[in-house]
Amino acid sequence: VSERSVVHAGAEVLVASNRGPVSYALGEDGALTAKRGGGGLVSGLSSIGPETDAVWVCAALGEGDREAVRRTGDALDPADTGGQRVRMLDIPSHVHADAYNGIANSVLWFVHHMLYQTPLEPAFDAEFRRQWGAYEAYNHAFAKALADEAGPHAAVLVQDYHLALVPGMLRALRPDLRIAHFSHTPWAPPEYFRMLPDGIAEQLLRGMTGADQLGFLTHRWADAFRACCAEVLGGTGGARLGVYGLGADAGFLRERSRRADVDERLAALREQIGTGPDGAARRSIVRVDRTELSKNIVRGLRAYRELLVDRPEWRERVVHVAFAYPSRQDLAVYREYTAQVGRLAEEINAEFGTAGWRPVVLHVKDDFARSLAAYRLADVALVNPIRDGMNLVAKEIPVVSEEGCVLVLSREAGAHEELGAAALTVNPYDVSGTARALHEALSMKAGERAERTERLAAAATALPPARWFMDQLRALQAG
Ligand code: G6P
Repeated sequence: VSERSVVHAGAEVLVASNRGPVSYALGEDGALTAKRGGGGLVSGLSSIGPETDAVWVCAALGEGDREAVRRTGDALDPADTGGQRVRMLDIPSHVHADAYNGIANSVLWFVHHMLYQTPLEPAFDAEFRRQWGAYEAYNHAFAKALADEAGPHAAVLVQDYHLALVPGMLRALRPDLRIAHFSHTPWAPPEYFRMLPDGIAEQLLRGMTGADQLGFLTHRWADAFRACCAEVLGGTGGARLGVYGLGADAGFLRERSRRADVDERLAALREQIGTGPDGAARRSIVRVDRTELSKNIVRGLRAYRELLVDRPEWRERVVHVAFAYPSRQDLAVYREYTAQVGRLAEEINAEFGTAGWRPVVLHVKDDFARSLAAYRLADVALVNPIRDGMNLVAKEIPVVSEEGCVLVLSREAGAHEELGAAALTVNPYDVSGTARALHEALSMKAGERAERTERLAAAATALPPARWFMDQLRALQAG
């Protein structure tokens, strides 16, 4: 990994994450267009700009990003980043691919979400060890950039499983810094975590506990981390553990979701959903996810199919609006999952659809304005992950929905700790149970629905992202 120049030397607050606030697409004509990054981490961190003068260090993820770095030097144009100071690291693409696809997303993501099951059993072989070398090099590139940029005693907030080794590496380079790490994912219990080779498990935990402060989204994940440290290291080595729940940004969502581009898409969606035999607008069951194995989209579609079989009274009167945006398509298992989602949606449409009714409206092209339009019209929100660090969609929909929506929520989402009392809880593996919850949600009386939506929105916005960030920063600076 090559040495890079220093661009923001002396920064007092730094944030590091694999994905940054924007990604660039390179057009055929050579034009670069900037687009907001996806996923919960970026949603949470996007509000830090106005609050602090933080420098955000991230990686170039594709050809568009690499080209932007080549053209701008690696300090991005603030016009593209909402004013945020961003340094985008151009890590060699084979190193990044092995670290990001090979280790972070194929191994660490699978461990923390407990996604390994036949035939996806892990095999930690020579190929894994080679990729692990890339993961170390990639983490080291971040540690080096942060060490170069940070002023004396600066606060550095490192994000997520991509960068688990950075705190320890940075501590060795710059003992004066205050270092925090935050996990946006669940954490696996020791009996699952210890599937990793012993030396690797130890290196990961030592890397993270090189931080002064370790943050998690819920107590459940923090407790699992503590248990892993107790078994593997004999303790957390003095690092402080904290729980910082991340909520929806009510002000931003309410303003953004009322703009003209969202209105347009809302009108188009209403048109697609259409009206039922009684002339009334059809009900909608909305889901918005990255097409991600942990999000459990296939079982969600199967539950919808069971609903149409068991409760034929809903035929022609409901539409499942499923936005499943392709994610991590370099990985074969994600490509196969994406294809499976598409096939099942078509099967349901072929089985039940009529001339005037398309039971599943599946959109796969990522469009933030259209997601917000779907939030506005949702009667029922389906959020049924197998395991999820938090799940911000569950928190965003009740804030934006126009007529109130019933949230069908997996008990395995971190958000369930805060929203469970006002949602309909499901076991994500129980397809029939999920179908029953969908029926209950669709049948709920307007009064109860409105009352629940109000409670959901209040709980969902209790910890706005700016506060989530500032609470961690203050604790780090005080500690
Ligand atoms: C999760 C992770 C984030 C990641 C996001 C999107 O929310 O915790 O770190 O950015 O998924 O995944 P991607 O691989 O596209 O960055």
